[in-house]
Amino acid sequence: MSSGTGSEPKMEQPTRRIVAGAAMDEDARIDASVRPKRFADYIGQARVKENIEIAIQAARSRGEALDHVLLYGPPGLGKTTLAQIIASELGVTIKTSSGPLLERKGDLTAILTSIEEREVFFLDEIHRLVPAIEEVLYPAMEDYRIDLVIGQGAGARIHPFILNRFTLIGATTRAGLVTAPLRSRFGIVHRLEFYTPEDLVTIVRRSASILGIAVDDDGAYEMARRSRGTPRVANRLLRRARDFAQVRAQGHITLAVAKEALQMLGVDEHGLDEVDRNLMLTILEKYAGGPVGLSTLAASISEEEDAIEEIYEPYLMQLGLLDRTQRGRVATALAYKHFGLEPPRRQPGLF
Ligand code: ADE
Repeated sequence: MSSGTGSEPKMEQPTRRIVAGAAMDEDARIDASVRPKRFADYIGQARVKENIEIAIQAARSRGEALDHVLLYGPPGLGKTTLAQIIASELGVTIKTSSGPLLERKGDLTAILTSIEEREVFFLDEIHRLVPAIEEVLYPAMEDYRIDLVIGQGAGARIHPFILNRFTLIGATTRAGLVTAPLRSRFGIVHRLEFYTPEDLVTIVRRSASILGIAVDDDGAYEMARRSRGTPRVANRLLRRARDFAQVRAQGHITLAVAKEALQMLGVDEHGLDEVDRNLMLTILEKYAGGPVGLSTLAASISEEEDAIEEIYEPYLMQLGLLDRTQRGRVATALAYKHFGLEPPRRQPGLF
């Protein structure tokens, strides 16, 4: 399409945004429709699930609020889903916010003072709370109390305000950035692990059945094993394979269809995508296997440092392709093998 007259570009901007928004909404809508609502439908994370189920049952039978819960681990493993299930199993509603959204103390106190008895407050990206706001959480978590400051200057007075008993569920991809005082106020702390291919097959088959997608067992397994151990990725690959099957294969996802769709998406045999490969090959070839610092690496591949640390590295480390050392990122011997490269010869006695 031509750009037309000088006045048109102004019109194009919002139009493009609406289109992008609509596409995202559709994927988000599908994600929500396949999200399990009860523990009985939640696949994997057996240890976490069992521990939380016991804590919920105990809290319910005592008529108390569940202890505060901290969930951490790479993105897409179901922290939000788990928080929603916990609220639903407790038989209470859930209020949701996230660290970066809370800019002023008032933003947090407005939520806390409106929380109902035994309600769940889900706070995503909790490591990104600013210190002054984090401090409001301490007495709220410990004593269900906030200290409201009334007035200003010398005449300012602190008025304790008693909150309803509630459960804070904090979620983070960066457990190391949660401060010790905040972390110590959570009674239940769990790390979510990458899912096994077997669990992911079950998730893909469940999602396919909800969405009415025809998928063969080996087609489901192919998507599952290339999903980086992550349900969100598995569900995304399923949606894209469905598109591919609809246009090229009468809507049925066979093994061959799954393989072709994954190839078109640039997802390799191990689930690595273009960014993973670029990251690894940069370390291997440009920096002779490392060590290379995070900021240098980020600049070299034009990616955000946060995205590298939170999304890409955890899976590359899980595969044994990458190590984080004090001096920087290092490719492992397995990485050389994976990318068909010759490892550098170490001089005898040097290491
Ligand atoms: N969808 C996303 N995560 C899931 C899980 N753990 N179990 C079932 N379906 C899911």
